[in-house]
Amino acid sequence: MATAIKFFQLNTGAKIPSVGLGTWQADPGVVAKAITTAIEVGYRHIDCAEAYKNQAEIGSALKKLFEDGVVKREELWITSKLWCSDHHPEDVPKALDKTLRDLQLDYIDLYLIHWPVSMKRGTGEFKAENLDHPNIPSTWKALEALYDSGKAKAIGVSNFSSKKLQDLLDIARIPPAVNQVELHPGWQQAKLHAFCASKGIHLSGYSPLGSPGVLKSDILKNPIVKEIAEKLGKTTGQVALRWGIQAGHSVLPKSTNEARIKENFDVFDWSIPEDLLPKFSEIKQAS
Ligand code: A2P
Repeated sequence: MATAIKFFQLNTGAKIPSVGLGTWQADPGVVAKAITTAIEVGYRHIDCAEAYKNQAEIGSALKKLFEDGVVKREELWITSKLWCSDHHPEDVPKALDKTLRDLQLDYIDLYLIHWPVSMKRGTGEFKAENLDHPNIPSTWKALEALYDSGKAKAIGVSNFSSKKLQDLLDIARIPPAVNQVELHPGWQQAKLHAFCASKGIHLSGYSPLGSPGVLKSDILKNPIVKEIAEKLGKTTGQVALRWGIQAGHSVLPKSTNEARIKENFDVFDWSIPEDLLPKFSEIKQAS
């Protein structure tokens, strides 16, 4: 019988919903509608970031959903991320306050260091001339203070390698709850998966469909994924998502299209049978 796998438990004890709506490249003007559709369909997890430049519009959509009684704040899991030019410990609480103002929330469920790369204070764009020496331990201490304050119910990182995670674990008072990385059948991150599992860090996958519009990945056209999808009577997107969930990852598919938002949430009442799982090891991995 299929297992629903609706949540994963973090090292904080909190339960993160296994499917979240990604909002990277969801333009202002369309993102509010996508959030509303997703929550009406049943999504309870939204993945945001300051860098996506659409948090204020997401906040307006959330406010209306709360006012209309569609969902309660405590039923939602909202993640956001600290941008690279806000790594200075004095800037970290200000950055979270801005995010909370934009999202019109009092707390965030999960706050992540977006990249293990720092940029000079006051710069915005990811450019070589803006790079600064990262001091992740001091940034992490500032995140720990946000966790202590209750404004961030869990803290973690994004785009961290096993080496960078180990360096962080060596100095952390509060270990990261989550590492969010690109993760899909064409980039399975086997070593990082094993490392995170051994340390009790939950691995969350962005671009779980291989980001067909942006990264030009062909995972949705991959013959092995197609064959499995045909056997199960599902779409290749659903198979990619279900693979992630069965591997123990929360998955964050981005869509602003109503039909695809629904399709990506239809992954709970069926599963990929055990005997088909080894097929995924045959998929050529991105290097
Ligand atoms: P759209 O927003 O028009 O649906 P990822 O989450 O891996 O980064 O992929 C996001 C990209 O994949 C977006 O371009 C999105 O476009 C598209 N997409 C989302 N869901 C599906 C799906 N089920 N099948 C095909 N493409 C999808």
